[in-house]
Amino acid sequence: MWGGRFAAGPSAIMREINASIPFDKALWRQDVAASKAHVAMLGARGIVAAEDAATISVGLDQVAAEYEANGVPVDFDLEDIHMTTESRLAELIGPVAGRLHTARSRNDQVATDFRLWVREACEQADAGLHALQVALVTRAGEHAGSIMPGFTHLQTAQPVTLGHHLMAYYEMAARDRSRFADARARMNKCPLGAAALAGTGFPIDRAMTAQALGFDGPTANSLDSVSDRDFALDYLQAAAQCSLHLSRLAEEMIIWASQPFGFVTLPDSLSTGSSIMPQKKNPDAAELVRGHSGRVIGCLTALMITMKGLPLAYSKDMQDDKSPVFEAASLLALSIAAMTGMVAEATFRTPRMRAAAELGYATATDLADWLVRQADVPFREAHHITGSAVKLAESRGVALDQLPLGDLKAIDARIDDRVFAALSVESSVAARTSYGGTAPAEVCKRVAEARVVLGLDGEGS
Ligand code: ARG
Repeated sequence: MWGGRFAAGPSAIMREINASIPFDKALWRQDVAASKAHVAMLGARGIVAAEDAATISVGLDQVAAEYEANGVPVDFDLEDIHMTTESRLAELIGPVAGRLHTARSRNDQVATDFRLWVREACEQADAGLHALQVALVTRAGEHAGSIMPGFTHLQTAQPVTLGHHLMAYYEMAARDRSRFADARARMNKCPLGAAALAGTGFPIDRAMTAQALGFDGPTANSLDSVSDRDFALDYLQAAAQCSLHLSRLAEEMIIWASQPFGFVTLPDSLSTGSSIMPQKKNPDAAELVRGHSGRVIGCLTALMITMKGLPLAYSKDMQDDKSPVFEAASLLALSIAAMTGMVAEATFRTPRMRAAAELGYATATDLADWLVRQADVPFREAHHITGSAVKLAESRGVALDQLPLGDLKAIDARIDDRVFAALSVESSVAARTSYGGTAPAEVCKRVAEARVVLGLDGEGS
């Protein structure tokens, strides 16, 4: 493509290090779409004869049909998807193919193709997360009243409901979706027409190509257009945060599925066995989701470091932008799908969860709250009194509500027999009716709202 200036061809090493076709062939759909938008505009503006523009457009359709049927051929000499497509086009339609590259450069071409690809990746993440949210609200609705221990420091803290716990992940997924939506909205400007870096002297219509490709409009600065990769970084940041959330859910599934917990039986379809221990059922999918988050964060780090300190405008380093994004997108899609299946199909062992909530003095705060409410004791003092009760119960190896009233009264005379009603795990969760609290009635309200937002009930998206 640049033979005119060179006396010798590139070495084998040059060809290999330069070639992006092994991975950027994934952009072929976007590349064809952008070329078709470009040539239609060249035709409309009379920069290329209407007849030639039509020939090129039909030829591009033919190249696309070949790619669809046989895949994209990988030839290092053709370097990247842009040259591979143009060279095949020339084979099919002859020298008129050479008019396609008028008023553009591979620099604005790749920036456009890649934006189109990343924009779609945002949409795919959104769709995957919507499905995860549907699974979460469905199971949360079933378990709005299922009691389990809530933890801080992974120590039993206060009883919560499983529905409440699952809805925490619904909220995380909602914020993740909004991050992908923000990224998509911000990146939706078209760099095509920035050409190599300075714009072009041809009377192009950038608004026309932008519109044809579904962008909100053209980018405003040609230098920025060909050198900006923050759209890819925005995507990777959203992906990294999302995979981090998924890793926490995965970790909880792993802990809950362990025998000492026994809170959940994971679906066979998302578990594996052991080649030596016949009894084993391992949570490999969840472990891989936990592991993949490290790789997704690595992809983000890789591209940030590639971009750091690059002068304007395009530098070839930027060719390395694609692999981390492609890798992160496929890891993320798999991770979201795996966690969706796990949530949808897990068997929650609610009797085990409830029994665990009875242990560890999870309702101690309820005793303190009762003293505040019924006996007007300042909370700090109530906390101290309750601590003594827990110590006594612990020394006897019994639950708080199994202490005789006399012993409780000996600790503090203001305690009376109404206290026992407050010490059950049911009354503990039922009492937590503050907005966003774990009371089953509250959880049901949040689930109902979420179902509307998700479009499962009534009006929504
Ligand atoms: N394959 C290149 C990339 O992915 C396309 C742009 C090449 N531009 C150039 N001036 N060499 O970044």
